Amino acid sequence: MNTLIVYSSRCGYTGECAEIIRDELGDDQFVMFTNIDSQDPPTVADYHRIIIGGSVRYGRVSRKLKRFMEDYRALLLQREVGLFLTCLGPPETSQKTFSRVFTRDLREQAKAHCFAGGVADPKAFRPLIRGYLEKRFPSFDTRDHQALRTFARQMKQVRKTPPAS
Ligand SMILES: Cc1cc2nc3c(=O)[nH]c(=O)nc-3n(C[C@H](O)[C@H](O)[C@H](O)COP(=O)(O)O)c2cc1C
Repeated sequence: MNTLIVYSSRCGYTGECAEIIRDELGDDQFVMFTNIDSQDPPTVADYHRIIIGGSVRYGRVSRKLKRFMEDYRALLLQREVGLFLTCLGPPETSQKTFSRVFTRDLREQAKAHCFAGGVADPKAFRPLIRGYLEKRFPSFDTRDHQALRTFARQMKQVRKTPPAS
């Protein structure tokens, strides 16, 4: 099955997540990935499995990723979809962000979802942003590769049809 991973990333971690997912999906899959912030997606209709990954900044994902989900909404609802977020927030906040970023129909369509944690280096930012990060997050490295591998395995699973009654 052809898989497309469309993600948004500013500092690189979400791209790293796409690579982990690709590796876990295995050699029998054709996996293409694209950072929507800097690249146009390939022909989306050619893919049967579409995984969408958003990195969160100030509670949102990039406008381009939002736009992608709006433009391809009808098609996405006919595909096997997986959703993941990278963020540093605690589980309750991440869950709220997830519900805000991904529309209900897409969430319901999703075969699996994942919170992949995040990573940031406050020192790399201007004092104002550094202050925001230091105030907001107790940890700057919550990367969860295991969650991504589990997610990829769930995406690969064949849905079992319930026995006829
Ligand atoms: C300026 C800035 C704002 C952020 N805002 C949020 C936020 O609102 N919620 C959150 O959970 N994580 C937030 N993060 C953490 C990022 O989601 C995390 O660093 C993630 O790994 C970034 O992904 P990327 O490396 O692919 O850009 C923020 C990070 C930065 C640098």
